[in-house]
Amino acid sequence: MNTAITPGRFDGKVAIVTGAGSGIGLATTVRLASEGARVIAADVSSERLDALVAANRSLDIVAVAGDITVEENVQALIAAAGDKIDVLANVAGIMDAFLPAAEVDDATWERVMNVNVTAVMRLTRAVLPKMLAEGSGSIVNVTSEAGLRGASAGAAYTTSKHAVVGFTKNTSVMYSGSGIRVNAVAPGGVKTNIEAPFKSEHAGRVLGPVLGALALVPAEPEQLAAAITWLLSDDSANVSGVVLASDGGWSAI
Ligand SMILES: NC(=O)c1ccc[n+]([C@@H]2O[C@H](COP(=O)([O-])OP(=O)(O)OC[C@H]3O[C@@H](n4cnc5c(N)ncnc54)[C@H](O)[C@@H]3O)[C@@H](O)[C@H]2O)c1
Repeated sequence: MNTAITPGRFDGKVAIVTGAGSGIGLATTVRLASEGARVIAADVSSERLDALVAANRSLDIVAVAGDITVEENVQALIAAAGDKIDVLANVAGIMDAFLPAAEVDDATWERVMNVNVTAVMRLTRAVLPKMLAEGSGSIVNVTSEAGLRGASAGAAYTTSKHAVVGFTKNTSVMYSGSGIRVNAVAPGGVKTNIEAPFKSEHAGRVLGPVLGALALVPAEPEQLAAAITWLLSDDSANVSGVVLASDGGWSAI
């Protein structure tokens, strides 16, 4: 995938990336670090983080394993970052087995909300004091096509990704005068390790024909990292509160 980096764009910057062990978070971590950032890489999988660090020994990547829905683990990320945090990419997320409202179980609902929404709030809440002290900061949250419409996942995931859009816009407005920008990226399909089993016959009947008719071509994680790092960088200095679709045009249909 030809997504040329911009050398030095994040020189001297400290970044936190969640979901750094796989897919979009991994590509974002490598790109940020390749462009000069010191990256605190967060993932629940220590094996994936070990592999990330081993494959990128020349880059400044600090692995911190832990479930980001737990406040103590969030605080461990803040401690690893040190005195300042310039950049936060809230990338970690999980799918919901496409369960519609009549079929969704409490465990699925709560886990999806905790990982996709509450953890985004926890990380944002934790970095803001340091960003406010510096008078600058850039945050990107990963939503989804499911944050824009109702036909690409189950009830829990769709609700969670719409919530990410609302949280992004509210936080952008609240800190617009403080030098802090908050944006979201909405991927379409991307070739990653995300698990998305269809566990509902009803959802298959309703969504199958809709999704099947679209002839969607999945993106490479590096293409999403390009959009995320643009929003994280000073290249997008006048942009805040937007939801940037990187979906090959799906959201225009
Ligand atoms: N892949 C797609 O087609 C697609 C489409 C739209 C949106 N997204 C979104 O992109 C983001 C990244 O997904 P991906 O496709 O790269 O998935 P992925 O499964 O390849 O990577 C996600 C990483 O997040 C980690 N993670 C999950 N829960 C965690 C937790 N509680 N604490 C810490 N780490 C955790 C996983 O271990 C994994 O390494 C997600 O928010 C997802 O909803 C993906």
